[in-house]
Amino acid sequence: MKLEDYPCTVLLADDEEDIRDVLRISLSDMGYKVYSAQNGEEALQIFQTVMPMIVITDIKMPGMDGIDLLKKIKRENPDTEVIMITGHGDMELAIKSLKYKAVDFITKPINVDALEISVSRAREKVIMKQKLQEYTENLERLIQEKTELQDHLSSLGLMIGSISHGIKGLLTGLDGGMYLLNTGFSTENSDRIREGWDIVRFMVERIRKMILDILFYAKKRELNWEQINAVGFADDVARVVEPKIKNHGIEFVREFEESVGEFEIDAGYIHAAMVNILDNAVDACLKDKSKDSHKIVFSVRQAETFILFDISDNGIGMKQETVEKLFKLFFSTKGSTGTGFGLFISNQIIQQHGGKISVKSSPNKGTTFTISIPKILPESAKADSQNI
Ligand SMILES: Nc1ncnc2c1ncn2[C@@H]1O[C@H](COP(=O)(O)OP(=O)(O)OP(=O)(O)O)[C@@H](O)[C@H]1O
Ligand SMILES: [Mg+2]
Repeated sequence: MKLEDYPCTVLLADDEEDIRDVLRISLSDMGYKVYSAQNGEEALQIFQTVMPMIVITDIKMPGMDGIDLLKKIKRENPDTEVIMITGHGDMELAIKSLKYKAVDFITKPINVDALEISVSRAREKVIMKQKLQEYTENLERLIQEKTELQDHLSSLGLMIGSISHGIKGLLTGLDGGMYLLNTGFSTENSDRIREGWDIVRFMVERIRKMILDILFYAKKRELNWEQINAVGFADDVARVVEPKIKNHGIEFVREFEESVGEFEIDAGYIHAAMVNILDNAVDACLKDKSKDSHKIVFSVRQAETFILFDISDNGIGMKQETVEKLFKLFFSTKGSTGTGFGLFISNQIIQQHGGKISVKSSPNKGTTFTISIPKILPESAKADSQNI
């Protein structure tokens, strides 16, 4: 909007009717919309309903005088500009009014040209202030947008780098499998073929998991909240991971407290988070060569208004410095067989449910992940959780 398009209202306060009339007519002729009041109290009332851009007030009025009115107006809206009308010999008052942030003062008898200059200056000052404010807000918004974009780009760059690195490792694995398949076929060695085939299948499985994780991360969907029996849910998770755990010769123990009841979750999401953590437990057991037998314990219990899941393994465990980095995106100690998406995503999912994951681990002994999820999350917290 151009300067002259800003609507301009002026409130006039003077106890002398003649002066009010003259000023009102002159200001109207100059194109201003004028309101007038015969004392400070009335002026303040009009001010509060009309919120004029400029107030012109006599400095001496019975009751609330011009300086009092000025102070009150500035307190209510510091952006309103106030011009004081002073009589001869009111110099001290006029200076005092400047101290209280009056924009100008004009002396009686009022010269119409001086009035016009003073009012139009005040008007420009108000408009410039408004423009400056709009400009600053715009600038702040732009800076905010730019920062968000930069964050996005750098995490995108990091992600692409890490994904490429991950895929490169997986391709090396696939090459190895294909080599075994090739030489197995040419020498008709069925053990070699089986070995090569197992590697190819494993690598394809890894690529599938990685792509699913990336898709999950790239496209957040709204949570689909449902009331669900916690033990029934844990049973579903256990049934998915149990065959894999047992295939590796690892013992799997369920400790489900039957009485824990229901909780409200997006079952698909929490299921994915649990499977990630259980997968890690399997890896930790497989990596550990210091023990003869391995065990994973999956338990469900409750504490006050929370459902708690513990996933314990007696695998390789972790040093404290590893524990501190666990939930970081792309943190993995598994080389080409891990992407470091698993716990990052699991942690986000649990946070979106108002819950948290805690970890206890000691090297060579094992690790326990405890996931606590509130049985019910207030609607407002559910809405906020979309932004996590
Ligand atoms: N139960 C555990 N015992 C020992 N170390 C663990 C355990 N769980 C996680 N870790 C460590 O945390 C790291 C990060 O785990 P995360 O699940 O995020 O990634 P990942 O398993 O390496 O890869 P993926 O994205 O395929 O899950 C692992 O590489 C591992 O070093
Ligand atoms: Mg993992």
